[in-house]
Amino acid sequence: RNCAGKQVTWCLMFCVSTAVIGSLQFGYNTGVINAPDEKVQDFIRNVTQERSGEPMEKSTLTTVWSLTVSIFNVGGMIGSLSVGTLVDKLGRRKCMFLSNILALIGGGLMGLSSMCTSYELIIVGRLVIGAFCGLCTGLTPMYVGEIAPTALRGAFGTLHQLGVVIGILIAQILGLEILLGSQSLWPLLLALTAVPAVLQCVMLIFCPESPRYLLITLNQEEEARQVLTRLRGHSDVEDDIREMKEEALKMSMEKKVSIPELFRNSAYRQPIIIAIILQLSQQLSGINAVIYYSTKIFRYAGITEAVYATIGVGAVNTLFTVISLFLVERAGRRTLHMVGLAGMTVCALLMTISLEILVSLGLIATSPISVLAILAVFGFVASFEMGPGPIPWFIVAELFAQGPRPAAIAVAGCCNWTASFLVGLFFPKLLELCQAYVFIIFLILLIIFFVFTYFRVPETKGRTFEDIASGFSSAANYMSPEANL
Ligand code: GLC
Repeated sequence: RNCAGKQVTWCLMFCVSTAVIGSLQFGYNTGVINAPDEKVQDFIRNVTQERSGEPMEKSTLTTVWSLTVSIFNVGGMIGSLSVGTLVDKLGRRKCMFLSNILALIGGGLMGLSSMCTSYELIIVGRLVIGAFCGLCTGLTPMYVGEIAPTALRGAFGTLHQLGVVIGILIAQILGLEILLGSQSLWPLLLALTAVPAVLQCVMLIFCPESPRYLLITLNQEEEARQVLTRLRGHSDVEDDIREMKEEALKMSMEKKVSIPELFRNSAYRQPIIIAIILQLSQQLSGINAVIYYSTKIFRYAGITEAVYATIGVGAVNTLFTVISLFLVERAGRRTLHMVGLAGMTVCALLMTISLEILVSLGLIATSPISVLAILAVFGFVASFEMGPGPIPWFIVAELFAQGPRPAAIAVAGCCNWTASFLVGLFFPKLLELCQAYVFIIFLILLIIFFVFTYFRVPETKGRTFEDIASGFSSAANYMSPEANL
């Protein structure tokens, strides 16, 4: 278990598992609102009827429902943007601990909505849970990236996405009508997020603070050394300490980096642009159009048991994230990202063609073309999880050293949440407008992101944070020698 810097100790596994509960929460709350959508809409309608004696208009219901779904992303934007300030003040561990208060409040509000006959509680609850998930998408990759040994940072980073996809799958399964997706049990389905929150708080008691935070941010070398000894399973941690000290020395000249500075300082400009575009490539690939609306897409293709096909999507999603986990330290981030984008492009084309043929010829669900449509959707999701799913989330922590890392994670996370908000908001309208051709829009974007990755994204596999960061600053110096003073 201890070869070439790839040592995996029980302590390390425990800390990573604890942090990844945050990813699970993000996935669960992303997927949970799909299955019981009709029941919750009935509830909103009934509450209004009870209050005013009048039935709610269809268009008002649609608006209230869209708000319920998308306010989660608004919360996410707020949460992800606050992460930078919070982690520097409180530390990574305390921040994870406290963020769970939001999960308890959000879950509680949604769980009580039916009892209190108030759909407003669901809306406020979704906002709070969104803020919580926004924090999770920054906190987990940051903590995991900071405690993982360099040689395994990609594989551990991919665990965040694995947590997300398992969370989505659990939500899809528990949301089945025969389980918690029923008329009476959906409030419980929404409130269930409180359980992992409590679990994570208990587990965090046994987790140490990130050694990088201790040494580089707080200058507590002895504490950092102790934590590293526990994480690595032996006391020979000099290499890690030396690397951190070098980083600390460089950092002492610039200290904490604010968000505007990321764009002003030429050493950070290139990596922040890469980080943002990679986040956009994840969301504007159209993945959530499939995750949110796969049931609708399958029905559109004439498939009767669409709910089960949707669970199939969740299963493929999980399987391929596991495959990526094993490939990411061999093939590298850049290659896998490009392979994923290329696969998605081909599948988007196949989806468009097969859906168009199905609809225009009015073929039945068992025709070979409908099988092709399902396979194209599965292939789309599988390709996503090879690279564009996991990599953007953890690469931001790799592209920046300790000083600018929190601000960069905040900016990148907020861009991700904003883009997914926009896709969630506009996709149903676009589907109505463009029908089967809707995926052509994503196809064009995918090609643009592929070209960008090819020309601009460096490989970060196996390199120290210091090395990656100095790669960017020397490039910046090369272009404008005075810019970095
Ligand atoms: C990524 C995305 C998320 C998406 C998920 C699908 O984590 O950030 O929006 O739902 O992958 O697996």
